[in-house]
Amino acid sequence: MMNIKPSSTAREQSSTEQNLSVQNLPVLPPMEDDHGEHLPGKPWGDELALWYVNNYGEHPVNAFAIELADLKGSETLLDIGCGSGAAVRAAAEKNTTGRNIGLDPSPAMIRIAREQSQDHPASSRMEFIQSGAEDIPLAPESVDVAIAVNSLHHWPDMSEGLSEVARVLKHQGRLILIEEIFTEQDRGMRPGEVIELLKSSAFTLQEYSTRQCDDIQVNVFFAQPKEE
Ligand SMILES: C[S@@+](CC[C@H](N)C(=O)[O-])C[C@H]1O[C@@H](n2cnc3c(N)ncnc32)[C@H](O)[C@@H]1O
Repeated sequence: MMNIKPSSTAREQSSTEQNLSVQNLPVLPPMEDDHGEHLPGKPWGDELALWYVNNYGEHPVNAFAIELADLKGSETLLDIGCGSGAAVRAAAEKNTTGRNIGLDPSPAMIRIAREQSQDHPASSRMEFIQSGAEDIPLAPESVDVAIAVNSLHHWPDMSEGLSEVARVLKHQGRLILIEEIFTEQDRGMRPGEVIELLKSSAFTLQEYSTRQCDDIQVNVFFAQPKEE
């Protein structure tokens, strides 16, 4: 696959230096803040999507999320902001009679996810849908497990997105949010922010922990739709 690199942080640059085949591409200021981080509400176009996928698409945090999901084999899993689909592929290997759905508003990400999954032995159990968390084209109470891996902080309206996730989750369904902890103060989400957001939405927080996953530290939040 073609390697593309728009602007990035120092950490990202050092970890990807040997990977690059196309350099000096134009920086994409309207989509990024000072850290080279994507700004919520702006679409992930082809360049940013390809750059992300080449550098982080197969990060072990995706398989880690599926371990935490503890799939029973015939459940419906929804990965919100699925990127290149790594978590959906990991899910489809375990969830052998279930549905494994990746959702992402970026046409580029969905195209890449489909391309990267088409030759996978479990490809018939995967579905990729182009849409955002705020508008999930699934029936109410149709999902057993929803995950969002480093995706929540990109949603332009997190409260609306979480309401929509609650709508599609079954009553006893589970939500697993994973958010990377960045060294830069103003990057990513503080745990308190996520906890407040969950509290003020249709979810009850069940567990929060900080975990090491390969080279990154992440905050993990387990939640369930509130009882009516
Ligand atoms: C940092 S990437 C993470 C991708 C994947 N979960 C992973 O960990 O490899 C963030 C993803 O969130 C997606 N995203 C952006 N806005 C979104 C929204 N409103 N709803 C759902 N996903 C969104 C982006 O298109 C992108 O694929």
